[in-house]
Amino acid sequence: MKSCISNEIASLISEQIKKEYESSYLYLQFADYYEKNGLPGFAAWFTIQAREEADHALIFLQYLHETNTEVKFYPIQPSSLNIKSIREPLEMALKHEKFVTESINKIFEKADSENDFRTKLFLSWFITEQFEEEINAQNFLDSYDLFVNGNCSKDSEYHCKSALLEMDRKYGERKYTPSSKLSA
Ligand SMILES: [Fe+2]
Ligand SMILES: [Fe+2]
Repeated sequence: MKSCISNEIASLISEQIKKEYESSYLYLQFADYYEKNGLPGFAAWFTIQAREEADHALIFLQYLHETNTEVKFYPIQPSSLNIKSIREPLEMALKHEKFVTESINKIFEKADSENDFRTKLFLSWFITEQFEEEINAQNFLDSYDLFVNGNCSKDSEYHCKSALLEMDRKYGERKYTPSSKLSA
């Protein structure tokens, strides 16, 4: 059976699969950094984030299967990071989510120009998802700046550390739930 999506969209989606795995890999590195630096809650949060990104890759893969499209498996490029502060990954995560949003928007734009309504409908879930991802990343960074950085001065080192511990406990409460878009 012939694929019902264009070659251009097929390539963009294959590239997106690679980008989702790269996101997953990036977040695993953040989790690793936090694990080594005494923040198991932050580490757990990013480990769940990494699992969700791998799920996103599977949802795109599923779509290519459903549309009888050949999948291209592009090599995954791991970024080798040299994280220097607790704040840095939070800032990078926000920047990265914005990059992914752009990438998904580009596929949508292409589908729109081709009147590929099926792909547009499929992508609408990801557009909502990216909106949430950006909000979550922004909130994480804002909470850190407000509660931790905002309490960090020489005379309030105690408050700074207790705010960080409290934030780590809170973020550690996140539970992984597989996406409803993933077929069992
Ligand atoms: Fe994703
Ligand atoms: Fe994401």
